[in-house]
Amino acid sequence: MTMAPGFTLCFLLHGEYVLMLHRRFPPNQGLWNGVGGHIEPGETARQAVMREVAEETGYRIENPEFAGFLTWEGFEIPPGAIAIFTAEVPHPNFVTNHEGVLAWKPREWACTSPEVVDNIHVFLPQILAGIGPLHYHFRYQDGQRVEDIITPLPPDFDLEKPHQPQDHLFEERRGDFLLSFDKERLQLDVIERFLALQSYWAQNRPRAVIETSIQHSVCLGIYHHGLQVAFARLVTDQSTFAWLADVFVDQDQRGQGLGKWLVQAACNYTDRLNIDLMVLSTRDAQGLYEIYGGFHPVEDPNKWLKRMRPERD
Ligand SMILES: CC(C)(COP(=O)(O)OP(=O)(O)OC[C@H]1O[C@@H](n2cnc3c(N)ncnc32)[C@H](O)[C@@H]1OP(=O)(O)O)[C@@H](O)C(=O)NCCC(=O)NCCS
Repeated sequence: MTMAPGFTLCFLLHGEYVLMLHRRFPPNQGLWNGVGGHIEPGETARQAVMREVAEETGYRIENPEFAGFLTWEGFEIPPGAIAIFTAEVPHPNFVTNHEGVLAWKPREWACTSPEVVDNIHVFLPQILAGIGPLHYHFRYQDGQRVEDIITPLPPDFDLEKPHQPQDHLFEERRGDFLLSFDKERLQLDVIERFLALQSYWAQNRPRAVIETSIQHSVCLGIYHHGLQVAFARLVTDQSTFAWLADVFVDQDQRGQGLGKWLVQAACNYTDRLNIDLMVLSTRDAQGLYEIYGGFHPVEDPNKWLKRMRPERD
């Protein structure tokens, strides 16, 4: 089954120019991209792009033109899908936003500049030439784009279907912070950097292992103005057992309740599923889990066994 788009990307056109956004936040931080963002639950991609364009640029576009379908794997955020649009705007006067710096750029520059998100070089020339809409699939490895696959739209692609995130996808805002179970929001570079540089339990975990662990876990992230600042994951059969793992809060954001929020959200999740047994292992944060999650030391450690993979030479 084709993945439904979870994001929109829009190229606003005025004469020979394209409106580009120099991104302040991941993914693609520091590069120029079109505008756009998440499709909220219940929205169609078209409704979402009209809302995002209004929020990010001030333009009220009425007839965004569907121009392509983009999917990826192996990138800094988990695999996902974007509906690409274009729209002509009647004047060049946009409103600024906090996502980054907006600027009108020549079409040719947008299609070729190394300062632009690199996969745009593949699809924007085709889109501006009126080719498509097509399906562009990009495969990344170790931060590099290694394969471009361009095909007709999948037969089951449905642009008009309202976005339906999975049932367990829960989101809550507190001030400028957003807690979300949506894996599409996760920022793998942030998670990888934390585990490698600041964790005491996963310093040597390779990127591919992190990706697979996320793929098979229920994940929580906390975001501050779009930047991921906290993470946790639950390894669970969703019915009898859950293991809370890889809990972290960015060093600059500690001490303001984000750790408690993560733990409480994870426990609320397992409680909703009537999961009886939840475990975790921690070197020094027992207080956090005992007070705010209701965890306590195992009564009889002798009953618990563990096995580590044998060393191979
Ligand atoms: C542990 C961690 C997630 C806490 O995040 P945080 O956002 O700073 O925590 P909060 O502001 O929500 O407060 C944590 C609460 O737990 C308590 N606590 C107990 N042990 C703690 C510890 N080792 N570190 C931090 N807080 C601890 C704090 O006193 C505080 O309670 P209080 O407000 O009643 O005093 C964060 O310090 C972190 O990422 N540490 C590095 C990674 C890590 O050790 N993860 C846990 C591995 S299992």
